Amino acid sequence: MAKSKDKRKRSTWACTACGEQTRGWFGRCPSCGAWNTIEERAAVTDGAGRVQMGGAGPQPATAIDDAASCARTPVGLPEVDRVLGGGLVPGSVVLLGGSPGIGKSTLLLQAAGSLARHTGPVLYASGEESAPQVAERARRLQVANACLLVLSETCCEEILAATEGVPELAAIIVDSIQTVHSRAQDGLPGNLSQIRAVLGQLTGLAKSRHVPVIVVGHVTKDGQLAGPRLLEHMVDVVLTFEGDEERATRLLRASKNRFGSTRELGVFEMTGLGLRPVENPSEAFLGQTRAAAPGACITAVVDGSRPLLLEIQALLAPGPGGSPRRTCTGVDPNRVAMLLAVLERHGGLCVLDQDVFVNVAGGLRVREPAADLAVLIAVASSQLGRPLDPHTVVFGEVGLTGELRPVPGLDLRLAEAARLGFRRAVCPAPTAGPPPAPDGMEVLLPRTVAQALEYLP
Ligand code: TYD
Ligand code: MG
Repeated sequence: MAKSKDKRKRSTWACTACGEQTRGWFGRCPSCGAWNTIEERAAVTDGAGRVQMGGAGPQPATAIDDAASCARTPVGLPEVDRVLGGGLVPGSVVLLGGSPGIGKSTLLLQAAGSLARHTGPVLYASGEESAPQVAERARRLQVANACLLVLSETCCEEILAATEGVPELAAIIVDSIQTVHSRAQDGLPGNLSQIRAVLGQLTGLAKSRHVPVIVVGHVTKDGQLAGPRLLEHMVDVVLTFEGDEERATRLLRASKNRFGSTRELGVFEMTGLGLRPVENPSEAFLGQTRAAAPGACITAVVDGSRPLLLEIQALLAPGPGGSPRRTCTGVDPNRVAMLLAVLERHGGLCVLDQDVFVNVAGGLRVREPAADLAVLIAVASSQLGRPLDPHTVVFGEVGLTGELRPVPGLDLRLAEAARLGFRRAVCPAPTAGPPPAPDGMEVLLPRTVAQALEYLP
C-alpha cells in the first residue's frame, strides 16, 4: 500500500459499455463481458497538480453520452443528498467547509459509513486523527463496517497509492486539505502551493477513477475558506456546515454546485450519537416558546424547496449617546440599517437614535429580503412595547419608498404557516392573481409599510 508511484504518466482504462475501471487493457471487459470496449482514458495530473481532462476533440453536444456524468450515488443521508442535488456525482470533487468543532468530521464519517454500507468501499483518509481515533468514533456513531477503510495519513501521494488496491471505491474522503501535503511541492501543509498541488492530485484521482472525492476545508474566523477562494474555484461543489456554538442545530448548504441547486438546506442536530436529521426544521427553530413578547415576530423564509418558519427578535434601547449601536446576528446589518431608515421615514417611528439589536432565534442566517417586513415589524413592536399576536406570520420585501414587494414562494410559506397552526399572515399581494389562502387562515395584504404597521395590535 505504501509504495508511491510517479503519477505523471499514468493513464487509466475503462469499459465504454459499463464504465468499469480496469488496471490495463483487456480484450473483454471483466465486468460486463463486452468485447473490445476497454479504452484508455487520459486524465492525469502532473507533479504540480495540474489536471488534464482527457478528450477526443470537439464533438456535437447531442452526440456526447452524459448518462455517466449525470448518474448520482446517493449518500444515504437524505439531508445530505438533498443539498447535493440527489447524491454524489462520480468523478466530482466536493469541498466541505466549516469552522473547527462544528461537526465536519462527524458528518463525513456518518456519510462514509452510510455509503460503505449501501454502495461500496469508502476510503476515509484523516490527516488530523489517528486511525484508532477515527475507528472509535465510527463505532460510537454506529457506522463502522468492513467497507469503511480508515487511513491516517498526511501525504497526498500515500493517500493516492492507498486507493490503488481498492476496486470500485464508492468515495474518497480527505480530512482535511490543510493537513495534507504533496511531496511534489515545497512548502508547509496548508500553504497556497501545497493546497493547489494536493487538490490538483485529488481532482485528477476523482476524474481518472471516476470516484467522488470529498475534501474538508477549514474556515477562518470571518467565515472564509482558509486557503482562499482558489479552493472554491477548483472544486465542483462547495458545501458549508454552519451552526451556533451554543445550540445543537447544524445547517448544511451548497454555496456552489455544478450539478444542482445551491438553495437547498440540510438541517441536523448534534446529539451524543452524532448528527441526527431534523425533519421538521420550522418546529425545531420556533421551539416551544411562543409567548407574545414585544420585539418578536415570526417570519417564513424559503430555503431551496423548503419553507422555514423563524423568529426574528429585536430590542431597542436608548444608547449612551454618540453614534447608536447596531448589533445583528443572522441578518445583514446593512439591510437592518436600511429598514430602520424606512421605518423612521415611512412608519413615523423614531428609531434612528436608538441602540438596535436584531437576532434570528435558532442561529440561522437569513439571506432573503422576504424577511424584511418581519425585521421591521419586530423593531416597531419593540419600540412601541406592543407584542404581536403569536399566531401571526409576517413576510415581504421592503422598498426604500416604503412600498412592499411580493416575494416568491408565497403559497409555500402560507402552507407551512398553516400547517404549524398560524391563523393570520401579513404579506404583500402576489404580482398576479389572488393570493392563496389556506383553510382557516386570514391573509392580510398591506401595500405599504404604514399599512402593515396598522396590523400591530
Ligand atoms: P467534529 O466532527 O470533530 O468537528 P470538526 O471536524 O468540524 O472539527 O465534531 C466536534 C464536536 O462535535 C465535538 O466538540 C463534540 C461534538 N460531538 C457530539 O456532540 N456528538 C458526537 O457524537 C460527536 C462525534 C461529536
Ligand atoms: Mg475534524
